[in-house]
Amino acid sequence: MIYLDNAATSFPKPSEVYGEMDEFFRERAANPGRAGYRLSTEAEKGIETTRKVLAGLFGAREPQRLVFTLNATDAINMAIKGLLNPGDHVITTTLEHNAVTRPLNSLERQGVITVTRVRPSPQGFVDPGDIKGSITPKTRLVALVHASNVLGTVQPIGDVGWLAREKDLLFLVDAAQSAGLWPIDVEGQCIDLLAFTGHKSLLGPPGTGGLYVGGRVELRPWREGGTGVDSQNPVQPEDMPFRLEGGTPNFVGLVGLKAGVEFVSRTGTDKIRRHGQALISQLLHTLGDDKRFTLYGPPPEAEDRSPILSLNIKGMEPQVVGTILDESFGIAVRSGLHCAPGTHKEIGSFPQGTVRISPGFFNTGDDVTQVALALKEIASSMAESSR
Ligand code: ALA
Repeated sequence: MIYLDNAATSFPKPSEVYGEMDEFFRERAANPGRAGYRLSTEAEKGIETTRKVLAGLFGAREPQRLVFTLNATDAINMAIKGLLNPGDHVITTTLEHNAVTRPLNSLERQGVITVTRVRPSPQGFVDPGDIKGSITPKTRLVALVHASNVLGTVQPIGDVGWLAREKDLLFLVDAAQSAGLWPIDVEGQCIDLLAFTGHKSLLGPPGTGGLYVGGRVELRPWREGGTGVDSQNPVQPEDMPFRLEGGTPNFVGLVGLKAGVEFVSRTGTDKIRRHGQALISQLLHTLGDDKRFTLYGPPPEAEDRSPILSLNIKGMEPQVVGTILDESFGIAVRSGLHCAPGTHKEIGSFPQGTVRISPGFFNTGDDVTQVALALKEIASSMAESSR
């Protein structure tokens, strides 16, 4: 099996991730901070180390403002539903994942907020000027995806962050596809809310993720419950991270996430990203002149693209291509709308979607050669059968 669906979840993980989770789960997996015995205290220290390692990766000065969540969707819901008030206006884009569009659409349909959706260029880049032009006196939040999960295009979050700060707006970045691949600096890029997942390019296990909540933001708790501290308090404690972390966390997962982030930091986000970009570039050069394919997104030389390529074989349903790749060639890719219908509307691939190829750090040039050959063979057999 050649796995090329790392935008859905990275696989495999570095061996340290499996090893450290296994050892911890078998030998030391006490509930962190819920009791005073040594194993519980040690488990809590482990979680705090994960928090610090992530805060370091994202340039966050106060690790306690980084709260753990189940995934990026959980973090985005926590941010949007914990922040917005009746009458607020939000600026977002048509490139967003359903994790952002659905909570916003739902509040908009209930009449709680109003939303402006900025459109990208045909290649999939958002112009900060369009965001600036959408600001109204009611605007409270700008919500922007960092890297598109369909096109890989990377948005100028630093420019948008500065703009939002200058206009006294809050800035939410969906870093589901970018954390671990691109430099992120919450202070330097003026990010107030950074949502990320652990199981993609941070190379951790599923069920881990987080939300960085900057000092300008106060969120209503998304879920309330036990924190292991301040138990006499009838309501959720005010202190971070406890305010937003009710309930036993995924502490086994967080051990794996720490190992994943340490691997990323040791290897370097630049090296990891360039490896993936080189594989996409190879694929674009191999398929680029073949008129049987439609390739979406920027050209091969684009620097601001994550290792993701969406394509279609003209005249074929992407789901059919995905099934043939799987069943006849042993290649795993994701076909369809990728939970981002707005992006597909922008690039003209709605409602059928695209075939999405997303290599990871452990893929090789040979994997890409294999998928290119398989795609060409599928295109040829389609041409044969339609004669
Ligand atoms: N959001 C993930 C993807 O794009 C699951 O595939």
